[in-house]
Amino acid sequence: MNTLDSSRLADLLARLHRDAQASDREHLEAMMVAFDGQGGPEQMVADILAEERADYRAIYHGYADNFLAVSPEYGRFIYAIARACKATLIVEFGTSMGISTIYLAAALRDNGGGHLIGSEMEPAKVARARANLDAAGLADLVDIRAGDALDTLQHVGGEIDLLLVDGAFSLYLPVLKLVEPWLKPGAVILGENAFEPGYQAYVRDPANGYVSFALPDEGRGNEFTVKVS
Ligand SMILES: C[S@@+](CC[C@H](N)C(=O)[O-])C[C@H]1O[C@@H](n2cnc3c(N)ncnc32)[C@H](O)[C@@H]1O
Repeated sequence: MNTLDSSRLADLLARLHRDAQASDREHLEAMMVAFDGQGGPEQMVADILAEERADYRAIYHGYADNFLAVSPEYGRFIYAIARACKATLIVEFGTSMGISTIYLAAALRDNGGGHLIGSEMEPAKVARARANLDAAGLADLVDIRAGDALDTLQHVGGEIDLLLVDGAFSLYLPVLKLVEPWLKPGAVILGENAFEPGYQAYVRDPANGYVSFALPDEGRGNEFTVKVS
């Protein structure tokens, strides 16, 4: 039996996903209205990016009680990718309450061990993520760095096998560039809701050393990228 499907993790993740759904319902409904509204998804993304560029810290502070977590399906996908690339060093931009972190740390456990560096700037979320990792029995594999990822991810200290980019949309490219020197050849970069045009253009330009494409995911903007040179 793999760690992800153990009853301990299955029960914990089912509860966390239920909590996430309850906490994020209003936010997700507002997003759907904006998505279907005048200007469509492009306008929604442009508005989000403009607000973030004005003050991303304030925006995300406003979401201090929201999980904004990956779906159970995407969670199983990132577990599977971490297993497939036999990851032993994973970096995560945007940990929130630690749901994606649990999927990734479960993969590390099943890969025989390793290290996950998380990043989260909301102190209350850092505390809740650590408690959730404890409850999962995976805390020994995870170092959640509290503070702005632009500061906390400056030093990684090893070759990254897998990077999950899931923080402020407007910072996907600066964070990628920050950790780029630590990416192993063949590293996988998963951009969740990677709508920011500059990020997409960068990872899709072969001159930058990546092969990258959007996953068929009904407009969720999930980008799958491999460092190839
Ligand atoms: C979409 S949520 C992450 C969800 C998480 N990966 C999961 O699936 O459970 C984004 C998180 O990134 C955090 N964040 C945004 N910008 C950040 C930054 N510059 N540094 C650290 N954390 C950041 C937010 O506070 C928020 O909790």
